[in-house]
Amino acid sequence: MKLLTGNSNKNLSKKISKYLKNKLINSSIRKFADSEIYIEINENIRGNSIFLIQSISYPANDNLMELLLCIDALKRSSAKNITAVIPYFGYARQDRKVVPRTSISAKLVSNLITKAGADRIVTVDLHAGQIQGFFDIPVDNLFATPIFSRHIKKNLKNNKLICVAPDVGGVERARALGKMLNVGLAIIDKRRPSPGKSQVMNVIGSVKGKTCIIVDDIIDSGGTIVNAAEALKKRGAKEVHVYVTHGVLSGEAVEKIKKSHIKNLVVTDTINNEDKVKNARNIHILTISNLIGEAIKRISNSTSVSDLFK
Ligand code: R5P
Repeated sequence: MKLLTGNSNKNLSKKISKYLKNKLINSSIRKFADSEIYIEINENIRGNSIFLIQSISYPANDNLMELLLCIDALKRSSAKNITAVIPYFGYARQDRKVVPRTSISAKLVSNLITKAGADRIVTVDLHAGQIQGFFDIPVDNLFATPIFSRHIKKNLKNNKLICVAPDVGGVERARALGKMLNVGLAIIDKRRPSPGKSQVMNVIGSVKGKTCIIVDDIIDSGGTIVNAAEALKKRGAKEVHVYVTHGVLSGEAVEKIKKSHIKNLVVTDTINNEDKVKNARNIHILTISNLIGEAIKRISNSTSVSDLFK
C-alpha cells in the first residue's frame, strides 16, 4: 500500500502518513504557464494499492482537475487499485435540481472520478449520504461525530447541553451527536431567501439556560451558523458552541465568526485553514488524520470500517 498526496491539503496528508508510518510517494505536481496541470510520479508503483489524498476545496476546479489527473497518472503507471481519499467532497451541495435547467454537478463530478479510474472512494461527512449512490464503486463515508463527541465530553462536561441542527437537512447529524452525548435536540427552521443568504424563521425546542452545540457539515459564508447562534442567544441560550466538519470559510466568514455570539467554533482539517484562522481566538481546528488513517489501514487489511463508529 502506498500514499500519494495532491496539493490541496499536504498538512493533512503528512499527518495521515505519520499515523500509518508510510511515506508519501515521491511525485511532482506542477502548472504550466497557461495553468494546465502536470503530474509526474517519481517512483515505481506497479502492482501497488494506492491511496490518493486530495480534497476538492478552494480552488475547487484546480483541485478537482489535479485529483482526476493524479488518478489517470496512477492508472497509467499500473497501480493495482486506486482509492481516492477525498476528505472534503466539493460540489456535493449541487446534488439535485433545485430549480429547472441546472446541472446536478455532484453526479457529474462522481462520474468524472469513476471514469478517470478510481476503484473506491473514502470521504468524510458527505453533504447528503445519497451521493454514495452516484458512484458504482464502493464509497466509505466517514463521520466526524466521534471526534466532536470526545472534544465536547472533555471540554464542556459540566454544562446543561442540547444539540442543535441548524436546518432540517442537519437533523440526522445533530441527532447522532445528541445520542452519543445523551442530550436532547433542537431544530432551527432556516430558509434561504436567495442563494448564499440564510434566515432563521423559528427554533423548535427549548434552549433557555442551555449550552447549545450546533453541528453542521459545512461552514461556508458563515451565514447559517452566525444567524443560528444569534437566534439561540435571543431565546435565552447560555452559550453557543459550534462543531463543523468542513471549514470552507469563504469571503468574510472568519471575521463574521470572530464578531458573532459563537463562543467556540471547532472545524476539522479536511480543508487546510491553518493560516486563515490563526488570528481567530474562537476558531479551533481538530485533526481528522487518525480517523482517515485508521480507515485506510482497515481498507488495506480488509477489516471493518463501520466498526470505527460503533
Ligand atoms: C447546507 O445545507 C449546509 O449544510 C450548510 O449549512 C451550508 O452550506 C452553510 O453555508 P453558509 O455558511 O454559507 O451559510
